[in-house]
Amino acid sequence: MKPINVGLLGLGTVGGGTLTVLRRNGEEITRRAGREIRVMRAAVRNVDKARALAGNLPLTTDPFEVVTDPNIDIVVELIGGLEPARELVMQAIANGKHVVTANKHLVAKHGNEIFAAAQAKGVMVAFEAAVAGGIPIIKALREGLTANRIEWLAGIINGTSNFILTEMRDKGAAFEDVLKEAQRLGYAEADPTFDIEGIDAAHKLTILSAIAFGIPMQFDRAYTEGISKLTREDVKYAEELGYRIKLLGIARRAENGIELRVHPTLIPERRLIANVDGAMNAVLVRGDAVGPTLYYGAGAGAEPTASAVVADLVDVTRLHTADPHHRVPHLAFQPDQLADTPILQMDEVRTAYYLRLRAFDRPGVLADITRILADSHISIDAMVQKEPAEGEEQVNIILLTHVTVEKNINAAIAKIETLDSVAGTVMRIRLEELTGR
Ligand code: HSE
Repeated sequence: MKPINVGLLGLGTVGGGTLTVLRRNGEEITRRAGREIRVMRAAVRNVDKARALAGNLPLTTDPFEVVTDPNIDIVVELIGGLEPARELVMQAIANGKHVVTANKHLVAKHGNEIFAAAQAKGVMVAFEAAVAGGIPIIKALREGLTANRIEWLAGIINGTSNFILTEMRDKGAAFEDVLKEAQRLGYAEADPTFDIEGIDAAHKLTILSAIAFGIPMQFDRAYTEGISKLTREDVKYAEELGYRIKLLGIARRAENGIELRVHPTLIPERRLIANVDGAMNAVLVRGDAVGPTLYYGAGAGAEPTASAVVADLVDVTRLHTADPHHRVPHLAFQPDQLADTPILQMDEVRTAYYLRLRAFDRPGVLADITRILADSHISIDAMVQKEPAEGEEQVNIILLTHVTVEKNINAAIAKIETLDSVAGTVMRIRLEELTGR
C-alpha cells in the first residue's frame, strides 16, 4: 500500500523527537499501521538551525505551504500557542487533512470549534500528546474505560511543577533554580507562568473532563491556582502529618454539577500517586465498574511526547479509510450526545482543608478558632500547635478539617483572620484522601 504522507509544523523538542522515533522504529511502525508513515516536509522557524536534525527532509519557513500541500494527508501541529496554530489547524481541516496535535492550549480553548469543523469535513483530529505526554490517557479514557460512568479523576499533569515541588522537598532547592533547570531540560512552557500557576494543568484537565464526562471543553470555567505561594514550611508540616503536597487537576462528578479545579493539594503519602516525583505525570481515574485505575509515565520531553504523537499517526493511518461515522468520536461520546451538566463554581466544591495560622500563645485562642469552625459547620480532623521559636510570642497552628463546602471554609477563614489573637492571613491548602468518594 502506498505511504501516508505527513507534514510537520514545528521541529523543536517534540517535532525533533517525532522525526527521530519515526526514523528509528519505522519498520515496526509500518507493520503496525499497515502502511509507511512518511514525513514529506516540515515547516520550521529557522531552516539553518533545523537542517542538522532534518537531514534531507524538505524544509520551509511558511507553515501555510504545508497545510495547503495537496500531497499531505496528515498535518502534525507542534508549534504550540493559539495563533497561528488555530488558523493552521482550521485550514488543514478545510483542506480535508487529518490533524495530529500536541497543543493542549489550543484544544482546551478552541477544541469545540475544531472538532465541529473536523466532524463536518469527515477528518480526524488526534491529540493524545496534549495531555500527560507519553501516557496514553486519552486512549484509556476514551476507549479502555468506555463501559464506565467516570466518577472522578485526579492527575499530576504538569511535569514542571511536580519537578519543582519534588526538588524543593528533597533538596531544599530554591524555587527559581529548579525552574531554570526545568526550562533547560525542555519541560517548561515558553511562558513558565503557565506551569507554575496551574494554567497548563487546567488546559489538560479541561480536555480530560470533556472526555470523561461527555461535556464540551470549558477551560474558562476551570478553577486554577498554582504553586507559587507554597512555602517550604507547609511542605514540611504536611509531611509531618503524613501528607505530600502535589499540584493536582481534579474533575469530579458531584450531585449538582462537575467540579473542575487545579490547585496544590495535600494527599496521603501512602497513595501511589503521592510518590510520583520529578517531571513524571500520573492520572488516577475512578470508574464505577472498574474502581480506581492509575496511569503513570513521562509527561513531557522529546521522545515521550513523540511516543503519543506517533501513536496518533498510527491510529489516523489505520482509520483513514474508515467511514467517518464509525470512527472513535473525538470526545468519546457521539457529538450530538454531549451533556450540558454545569461546571460548579469553586464556592460549591466539597473538599477537606489544611489550615495554617499564626496565633498568640495565650488561653482561649484555640477555643475561639474552633468555635468559628463549629459555627460554620466545619468538623476538625486534626490539630497541631507548634512550639514557638526562641523569643517569639506567636505559634504556628495547623488544622486539618473534614470535607466541607468551600464557601463555609472561606467564611470561617475570614472570621478567624479578624481575631485579635491571630496574626496575618490563614494559609489554606485543599486536602483530598483520593479514596471512594
Ligand atoms: N510544560 C509541560 C509540563 C510540558 O511541564 O508538563 C508538557 O505538557
